[in-house]
Amino acid sequence: MYNSKITGMGMYVPDNVVTNKDLTSLMDTSHEWIIERTGIEERRHIKKGDGNTTATMGVKAAKIAIERADIDKNDIDLILFATLSPDYYFPGSGVIVQQHLEIPTCPAMDIRNQCSGFIYALATADQFIKTGMYKNILIIGSENHSGGLDMTTRGRGVSVIFGDGAGAVVLSRSEDPNKGILSTHLHSEGQFAEELALIGPSTNRWVPEILEANDPTDISYYPNMNGQLVFKNAVVRFSEVIMEGLQQNKMTPEQIDMLIPHQANLRISQFIQRKFGLNDDQVYNNIMRYGNTTAGSIPIAMTEAWEEGKIKSGNLVVLAAFGSGFTWGSALIQF
Ligand code: ACO
Repeated sequence: MYNSKITGMGMYVPDNVVTNKDLTSLMDTSHEWIIERTGIEERRHIKKGDGNTTATMGVKAAKIAIERADIDKNDIDLILFATLSPDYYFPGSGVIVQQHLEIPTCPAMDIRNQCSGFIYALATADQFIKTGMYKNILIIGSENHSGGLDMTTRGRGVSVIFGDGAGAVVLSRSEDPNKGILSTHLHSEGQFAEELALIGPSTNRWVPEILEANDPTDISYYPNMNGQLVFKNAVVRFSEVIMEGLQQNKMTPEQIDMLIPHQANLRISQFIQRKFGLNDDQVYNNIMRYGNTTAGSIPIAMTEAWEEGKIKSGNLVVLAAFGSGFTWGSALIQF
């Protein structure tokens, strides 16, 4: 069996910075409230007309990852695209990326696992590489949240948290048994499916019905979140799935060189850090600058950490995520 390793990473966020203060002109909120509850100082929002979409931001991140992996785009055997905000209802954003990268034919697949989407995609790619089916897989996590948020006081509990951006990695076949993805761990619990969800439009309510109702008070078009339930489940599931990965590899928390949690909320990351007794150098957070970019958050954070020299050869990096579904997962990577 082969091993799989990350050979290139890239990220892209829109130029448009939206600070907490900027939000106060749209809704009844404050910098203090947002900082205290989430740790977020600013996020990036696509600006109308700037050419950014979920897929095109993914393309920008992917081009950097492909260049750093030092492969030709035509060497990519599979594109995996994780998002909850695809460009189109269908087809998925993976084929849009393929179109922009001008890769004539290779399989392209979308992964619909929200905040855990990147880890689900990484786990999927890992299997295809370890079995020998593919050599190079492009994995993208990207979100365009800003266009779909309720930017009024009514939606403030959700809209202050999310930002736009994309991250990408190239996962490649490796013959080195000691380096690469050690293990991945995936979970879901569908009983909470509607606790963090965007319900409409959907195939339960097709567009003609929505147009006929023409109801501006219908908030089902916006994401809804049972924030406190999410928080309580997140801290438990993050801890469990990190521990599961460590135990499977007969490792202990002290051996973690860098934990990159999905950037859901700084308070969740800090809770996990305390729980595992990790110091500040062992956990990477950038939610302060980008907000929660959902499927984009882990590859964006991992790329930044690598660019800052905080992930080096020989390091044990642990990725962990929790989110809508509920879904959660982890990955242990020996760099
Ligand atoms: N600004 C000011 N006031 C606000 C805002 C805002 N942006 N949003 C909500 N409030 C108000 C509410 O209206 C409420 O007012 P009331 O007491 O008069 O009714 C009050 O603040 C408290 O609201 P809660 O929703 O109870 O606030 P809470 O303390 O639970 O914090 C938060 C909300 C930050 C979402 C919290 O529940 C949380 O961190 N949850 C975890 C969810 C999370 O991080 N999700 C990220 C996305 S999911 C993921 O990636 C896993």
